[in-house]
Amino acid sequence: MYICPLCRQPLTLTGRQYRCASNHSFDLAKESYVNLLPVQQKNSKDPGDNKLMIEARRAFLQSAAYQPLSDAVNKLVMQAAPATVLDLGCGEGYYSGRLQQALKPAVRLSGIDISKAAVKYAARHYPAIRFAVASAYQLPFADNSFDSIIRIYAPSDSSELQRVIKPQGRLISVNPGPEHLIEMKQAVYREVKLHSDQIKDQPGFQHIQRQQLSYPLHITEPEQLDNLLQMVPLAWKFSSDTRQAFIATTRTISIDFLLDVYQSDKTADKPG
Ligand SMILES: C[S@@+](CC[C@H](N)C(=O)[O-])C[C@H]1O[C@@H](n2cnc3c(N)ncnc32)[C@H](O)[C@@H]1O
Ligand SMILES: [Zn+2]
Repeated sequence: MYICPLCRQPLTLTGRQYRCASNHSFDLAKESYVNLLPVQQKNSKDPGDNKLMIEARRAFLQSAAYQPLSDAVNKLVMQAAPATVLDLGCGEGYYSGRLQQALKPAVRLSGIDISKAAVKYAARHYPAIRFAVASAYQLPFADNSFDSIIRIYAPSDSSELQRVIKPQGRLISVNPGPEHLIEMKQAVYREVKLHSDQIKDQPGFQHIQRQQLSYPLHITEPEQLDNLLQMVPLAWKFSSDTRQAFIATTRTISIDFLLDVYQSDKTADKPG
């Protein structure tokens, strides 16, 4: 299922080691994930989200604040009854874990993320899912591997998406809607710029469905807001004073997601 990140030949698992025909080898970690990110593909020593960001996101997601999003993603995935699914930029596995619960046990679910700390956490908590440390820009999978790919707030490369998707396969992409976390922006910007709600082109795919998911999130405790602040890029705009004031006075935050479903143009007789 995996291909070698160095020479692109298939990897086979023997014992706890993946090996390709050219003898490149990759060990399964004790949490049973595999690190398929060669140094040449690392743009920093520790790429992706760090442990603190992961812990904050984990705590926030556990408050069920984004459970409606996870449920909506699961529904969209299940519409197509896939046999193989990839969670691209899976983070610490919150959405993959809930998706796996919703899907039939025979469905093969994989997750990749460039952050080793995130993948380690995911592999420890969701042993039924295959996780790898890998880059979205050079996916360690053979051509035509997945019926569905989910991409929740994660970077991707359009030629890699086209390569690994099966003919007629689907991409479910989640991005922030115009009003997402608008109160946070209002706290730090004089003029607030809304997220665009334009449907983005996805080369090699047709856009087939859009769903907007908006709801007010009622803040149950200050830690919840504190965690949310740690996981968003906007956080560094807050001084410690504005941050404290924001946490003390905010009771509701606007949540606004855009879920877009794309279908691959590939056909079975002309794959790739
Ligand atoms: C905003 S987080 C979203 C994580 C998860 N999908 C979620 O919503 O909880 C973006 C994720 O993309 C990962 N990431 C960043 N650059 C990446 C790359 N080039 N390849 C794979 N993952 C990457 C980060 O480590 C992080 O876990
Ligand atoms: Zn190799």
